Order: sequence, then C-alpha cells, then structure tokens
Amino acid sequence: MTDLQKQLEDSLVEGLELIEKATDSREVEDIRVNLLGRKGTISMQMKGVGKLPPEDRPGIGKTANVVKAKLTAALTDKLSVLDSDAAGDSAIDMTLPGRRRGIGRKHPISHVIDDAVEIFRRMGFVVADGPEIEDEFHNFDALNTPADHPSRDIQDTFYLNDGRLLRTHTSPVQIRVLENQQPPVRIVAPGRCYRRDTPDATHTMNFHQIEGLYVDENVSLSELKGILLTFAHEMFGVDVNVRFRPHFFPFTEPSLEYDFSCMNCGGGGCAVCKQSGWLEISGAGMVDPAVFEKVGYDPEQYTGYAFGMGIERLAMLRYGINDIRLLYENDVRFLSQF
Ligand code: PHE
Repeated sequence: MTDLQKQLEDSLVEGLELIEKATDSREVEDIRVNLLGRKGTISMQMKGVGKLPPEDRPGIGKTANVVKAKLTAALTDKLSVLDSDAAGDSAIDMTLPGRRRGIGRKHPISHVIDDAVEIFRRMGFVVADGPEIEDEFHNFDALNTPADHPSRDIQDTFYLNDGRLLRTHTSPVQIRVLENQQPPVRIVAPGRCYRRDTPDATHTMNFHQIEGLYVDENVSLSELKGILLTFAHEMFGVDVNVRFRPHFFPFTEPSLEYDFSCMNCGGGGCAVCKQSGWLEISGAGMVDPAVFEKVGYDPEQYTGYAFGMGIERLAMLRYGINDIRLLYENDVRFLSQF
C-alpha cells in the first residue's frame, strides 16, 4: 500500500468517527467542507498523486472515489437522522387544519355513456364491443361502402401502415355482432372513433359514438322512432320530441338523420339550436339488405334498424358545454363540475 492510500483510508476512519459524533446539521456541514470541500483533506491528499509513479495512479483514484462515496453516504444518513430527531412531537402543529384529498369523478363522457347504456339496457339492449383498430372490411366493405366513397379518403380516415385503420364510426361493431350471432340481435356499442378532422368547437380527431342495432323478423321503422323518442325522454325529459329527415348512408335503406327538439328553448328557437328549434343528433335507418348478404343473413327473412349517436354531442347538450375541446383538455376546474 502506498503512503497516499494509507492517508486516504485514515481520513475515512477519522471522518466517519467525526460524523458519528456530530450533534447538529451545522456540525455535519462543517465536517463535509473540511473533508470533501475544494480545500478539504481529501483534495489536499490527492495533490500528492502527481508525484507517484504512473502505474500507481489509477489505484489511488479508485480508492479516493470509494472514500468520497462512503463519506458522502455517511453525511447524508447523519443528516436524515438529525432531521427526524428534530421532527419530534414539538414539530407537529396539532392546530393546523387537515389536508383534503381530492376525490376523482367520472368524466362527463363516461357519465353520458353509462346513462345511455342504462337507458337502452332497460329497453332490452345488451352491450357489444369491437376493436378501435379495424380493417377495411368491417369499417367499410361489409357496410356496403363503395371503394371510391369519400369517407375512405386518407383525408378522412387514419390508416395504419399495414392497411388497417382507426375506426371512423362504431358501425363496424354491427358487422362483428352479426357475424357471430343469430337473430334476434339487440345491441348497443359505445366506443371511441377517429376521423381526420381539424379540431374546432364541434370537432375533435377522436370522439365517441354509441351504436344501436336491432335485427329480427318484422322490425319496422316506427319501432326505431319509438326507441329514439323514448331515449330522448329518458335522457332529456318528456317534453323533447324527435323528427326524422331523409338522408343517405351506404349501410341503411331508407336512411335518415334525426333531430331532438331543442331542450334549451323548448323548440321556439334560441342560440343553442341556431333559431331552428331542432338539434341534429346523428344518423339511423333500416339495415340495408346488402349488409345482411355480406354477413350471411337472409334479407328476405330479416329486417332491422340501426342508429348512431354522438356522445360528445349529447354531453354538450346535457351539460350546456359550448366547446367540445373542453372535454379533452383534462382541466380539473372544468371536470370537477360534473
Ligand atoms: N355510422 C354513421 C355515422 O358515423 C351513423 C349511422 C349509424 C347511420 C347507424 C346509420 C345507422 O355517421
């Protein structure tokens, strides 16, 4: 062992003893400066390294590092022991009020989904589920959407590199259920959807829908109207009315869009309904026979209706939210209101 090595190890032993005996944090700090400071014992000892033969130098460097690490650890330990001693009874102020822990809440979107599912459950629907990463077959082809339909455009749909895509609506769940079940089928499928929209007060690139599907013998359009009217009453109150407007979807025939009468003004016209008295909710219709053929159902035997609903739209109407982006900012001041 070189002299220097011996000196370093002596410093370690002495240092540990001093640290052990220290009684307050000032003393600990003084010891630290004296031992490890720029002009402290260890630094001074290390000045001797230059005079050693080159082959001895790395060994000394290593020893010095070990000594420093051990001293640093001992100093830290000592400080935390002194700290916790100081925090004896006298350090706790019994008169301070307690700290309240924030309680989490359901997100308004989850609220609306849960309530909508509950309403449909009471009407005999069961919940179905499908993947958010879909293939073109379920999202488009099986829904009778032609290859050149604009909704397939990369401007509207997020495609993955392997040709799959982020579902643009919950309608592919219709197909997944029909592929695996025989009629009667009566499901609702809530879930997240994606479209390449530019975000603004009424659009976000991901949003939620709830899909409804009922297939059996002799299902009629008037039943669809009855279901949607009942839903509107349960969700928004008995004064709300429903109206159908003709529309087009590739997977329903006839297709329609439906509106709820404005629950804000009672249908008289206000800023929420842009003076029209009606609020657009989403699309619906009778399942197109071409869809039944794609999933192997006999279109002569079965009929059915399907509908979609925009969850964010329902949430905005229900809670009077005027910008959809508020639902996705996760600002606790906003969320704690629901
Ligand atoms: N999937 C349609 C959309 O996203 C809505 C819809 C659902 C229309 C079911 C008809 C039947 O716009």
